[in-house]
Amino acid sequence: MTVESLLARRNHALGQGAPLFYDEPLEIVRGEGAYLFDVSGRRYVDMYNNVPCVGHANPAVVGAMTRQQATLNVHSRYLHKGIVEYAERLATLHGPQIESFVFSCSGTEANEVALQMARAATGKRGVIYSDGTYHGNSEAVGMLSGGRRQSSTHPEIASFPFPDRYRPLVSGLDESALADAYVAQIDKAIHQLQSTGAGVACLIVCSIFANEGLPNVPAQFMARAAARLREVGLDPADYRGRVLDIRNAIATRRRALSNESAPDYARFSDEQLTDAWQYNLFPNVVLSFGVDHLWIMRARPHPTDPGRTEFDKITLTRRPISERATPLPRLGREVFEYDAVIRGEKSMTITIDQDVELLKDVQSGMKSAGFDTVWLSEEEARVKHFHAEWDRRMTDRV
Ligand SMILES: Cc1ncc(COP(=O)(O)O)c(C=O)c1O
Repeated sequence: MTVESLLARRNHALGQGAPLFYDEPLEIVRGEGAYLFDVSGRRYVDMYNNVPCVGHANPAVVGAMTRQQATLNVHSRYLHKGIVEYAERLATLHGPQIESFVFSCSGTEANEVALQMARAATGKRGVIYSDGTYHGNSEAVGMLSGGRRQSSTHPEIASFPFPDRYRPLVSGLDESALADAYVAQIDKAIHQLQSTGAGVACLIVCSIFANEGLPNVPAQFMARAAARLREVGLDPADYRGRVLDIRNAIATRRRALSNESAPDYARFSDEQLTDAWQYNLFPNVVLSFGVDHLWIMRARPHPTDPGRTEFDKITLTRRPISERATPLPRLGREVFEYDAVIRGEKSMTITIDQDVELLKDVQSGMKSAGFDTVWLSEEEARVKHFHAEWDRRMTDRV
């Protein structure tokens, strides 16, 4: 039979649209180990197929399948030692987090089950996926394919550019900064799903990014992306309880997140995990500690204009334990004017921006003719102390 006649019969029996590789289709009739053989006996190295990952016609696999076919072929709703022993053996090949299995007949089905589990566990619908992936061909999983070719407007899915050092998203970055640039894309996808109301159920990726072309993934990308996804679990909308118990709930959740990819929260007190700890160094420095960061803030008087000041904010961030061996580059310094914050072009984080917004009014109030005394509440004892200390020093000097 010629290739042409087999092709014509195929088009008839399977339909014209059934995908076929190569302009000159191969008629492959046999596989063995790493090789495929065509009808003329020509041997090819199989660089493509992933299903027979232990080799074509592997005798151990063929033997086990033949024995089972010849004995019993039913579903798994009867008690049977075989499936239990198989699951137990699989478990020994994985880390302790994986202790039980749901078996399926295809990759598509496995990913369907994974999506269902993630959605059931989180109560959210949104799925984050890479823009070069393929996860299968069912309705739910099929939506996640072809992200690069077509942008989806479906509210329950959001793609991110797959991580790649060879054709990086941003050029000129070192590996760690590039990993951060890709994690920022994960953050974008998280926000997108939160803004549609779907929320985030999961991030789904092939563990070797096979369909993306086996890219060189920047080290730490997966650990950082996974840490981000775990943090999404801290969703205020999910909290049910008394206002006074919120701090405790946050501390409990943060400790639960503590593992080798997240910071070591376990050794902090509830207060250290939830509160901002502020220390003032007279006359012009504020140290503000959170569990993961330290802000060093310093007001510097303008050399000639008493109505102006320069305000420095230096941010130091605590890194996950697993990343600490890799040095990070020092981030650049950004310099901008007060009005850039007011116009929303620059941000010094939302809390500082809110304070900055008030400064103009405070300053014009202090310059007004009616202002002669400042009255401050107990919470502002540090500001009172600042004024008292300032007066004392000025008076001493006179
Ligand atoms: C990474 C990945 N996931 C899922 C699938 C879907 O598997 P199946 O064709 O068995 O449904 C494939 C298929 O090639 C795949 O490459």
